[in-house]
Amino acid sequence: MTTKIVTWEGASETELERLWNRSSVHLFSLVDSTNTRARELAEAGAPAGTIVIADEQSAGRGLAARRWHSPRGEGLYLSMLLRPRAVANPLLLPLLAGLATARAVASLLPSLPVGVKWPNDLIVRDRKAGGVLAESSWAGGAPSYVVIGIGINVHQQANGFPDPLRKAAVSLDVATGRRVSRLQLAGRLLSEVEATCLPPPAKLNDQLLGELNGLDWLRDRGCRVVFPDGEAFEGVGKGLAADGCLLVRNAEGSLRRVYSGRVAAEGLVTPDY
Ligand code: BTN
Repeated sequence: MTTKIVTWEGASETELERLWNRSSVHLFSLVDSTNTRARELAEAGAPAGTIVIADEQSAGRGLAARRWHSPRGEGLYLSMLLRPRAVANPLLLPLLAGLATARAVASLLPSLPVGVKWPNDLIVRDRKAGGVLAESSWAGGAPSYVVIGIGINVHQQANGFPDPLRKAAVSLDVATGRRVSRLQLAGRLLSEVEATCLPPPAKLNDQLLGELNGLDWLRDRGCRVVFPDGEAFEGVGKGLAADGCLLVRNAEGSLRRVYSGRVAAEGLVTPDY
């Protein structure tokens, strides 16, 4: 289900291509998922840097096959196609895209405190304001493409989220008390994603690790990790390591390195968003 749109935030595809200095911007009023559309374009040979933006998603996707609430005109739903020659450590892509998202929001809204909850959540005032879904396709051990999908709650009102999300989510408008421009936010995201994610590093250097640890919302917070095999581990967040894993220390002092799994944290009402 796709409906092409003539303008988004008052600008046409051609105007946005000129504004953002790129060859391929695709605008949709309604799409199932901008990530799905970007993957289809990638399979059809679209160039690196292709952007897909929708005003509404009928099947927006989050991590672990969760749904991403994507009402018309309220959020920023954007996917970007990258074609890196190599991805030595795929775990770092969502982390770096999350960092890029935090950088973009912080540069547009400098007075807003932003955090990142490992691996991919943008946190504002202890609520989730956005998330990243990085999807890769591989051919013969090399990446054929990577799609970075970013969803940010922008214009939703405080009571505009459906019930399970109401206490967990926040929009940038509510957090700042003013109307935030989706157009400006998208422009900053595009340059930050490319600057931060390309070329994808094998490990986080000291500068990136320091920046991510400075934004780490789980730091010193009680949390419960559920690993993919169902094992649970409770402890306190102790930052990230250079390979991108989350460090969690339990009451007995044992330190676990978390590479995958779900992390529910004290103070975030529902982790399932
Ligand atoms: C998460 O927090 O689990 C990630 C959410 C990612 C949502 C964005 S919205 C644009 C792109 N299209 C999708 O279907 N998902 C991502």
